[in-house]
Amino acid sequence: MKKKIFSGVQPSGIPTIGNYIGAMKQFVQRQDDYDCTYCIVNQHAITVPQDPKTLTERTRGLAALYLAMGIDPKKSTIFIQSEVPAHAQAAWIVQCNTYLGELERMTQFKDKSAKQETVSAGLLTYPPLMVADIVLYNTEFVPVGEDQKQHLELTRDFVQRFNNKYGNGKAILTMPEPMIPEDGGRIMSIQDPTSKMSKSDTNTKSFISLLDEPKAIRKKIKSAVTDSSGVIEYDKENKPGISNLLTIFSAFTGKTIPALVEEFAGSGYGNFKEKLADAIVAELEPMQNRYYELLNSKELDDILDEGAKKANAVASETLKRMENAIGLHR
Ligand code: AMP
Ligand code: TRP
Repeated sequence: MKKKIFSGVQPSGIPTIGNYIGAMKQFVQRQDDYDCTYCIVNQHAITVPQDPKTLTERTRGLAALYLAMGIDPKKSTIFIQSEVPAHAQAAWIVQCNTYLGELERMTQFKDKSAKQETVSAGLLTYPPLMVADIVLYNTEFVPVGEDQKQHLELTRDFVQRFNNKYGNGKAILTMPEPMIPEDGGRIMSIQDPTSKMSKSDTNTKSFISLLDEPKAIRKKIKSAVTDSSGVIEYDKENKPGISNLLTIFSAFTGKTIPALVEEFAGSGYGNFKEKLADAIVAELEPMQNRYYELLNSKELDDILDEGAKKANAVASETLKRMENAIGLHR
């Protein structure tokens, strides 16, 4: 039997090439060898303020993007989190078996709460919802970017604790493992290569979104921050800008970083950037065309309906197992 993969992305903005390289590209690559379930985690998105209409549009948009990227609904399950009630139900059980101290320690909570004027309780209890997402599908591997590693550790701690406490020697829940790309697990801003590329960055020049038009992509890459040496080499510490661009280049072409360094030896940054922009456009332009075709289609609704049905069947079974284990039954 194929091993199980689960992952999710928040519809909190248009995904960037950072999301794509760190996580979403893997979603597509893994689907032949694994039994994959991919979620649009709209309940995670509401941990910070969202405009209702925009949230609805982005949720549908992200589903269309999953498909446009190449996730094949015949191989993988795609669904919207809020259409599977077991997530919120299981999250409650997870919360009651997670300690406040564990949640307060989460870096993402600390970073995000520092940026909000008021902090919702959901921002703190966000990781238990993510734990629920993962365990409900008996997940063995979770493809994510580097920034989710801590949440995966929390998930593993929870699974161990829950099985010990309620399993009577049997594993009720499956122990998951993160799947983080060796290169590309943390794509940096192209304006400030010391901070992470983020879809919510107020400086739109700092990221390339998957829906940026080719002209905008070329312009943004052209103005990407590098250094004054003009030598193309991989040195994360001293030359973070060009190193980040090399990582992006490698992800979009499948060529290794050493091969790229050799190919561009003696070439200036200008030429390198032009070729990089070509590679990004070559992959994103067809994806965008497919995205616009799918966005308002009935096909998209049918796929999401079917996905929710399949997800509900698996998730409700695991939820029942959790409820039975802790005594939440007649
Ligand atoms: P989010 O946008 O927070 O829902 O993230 C979706 C996925 O993209 C998660 O697996 C993140 O770890 C990953 N991700 C987000 N930003 C980056 C980045 N700058 N580089 C690599 N992966 C990222
Ligand atoms: N927390 C993840 C992020 O911000 C999104 C997410 C929610 C997720 N549930 C998940 C990722 C389950 C993997 C598995 O990127």
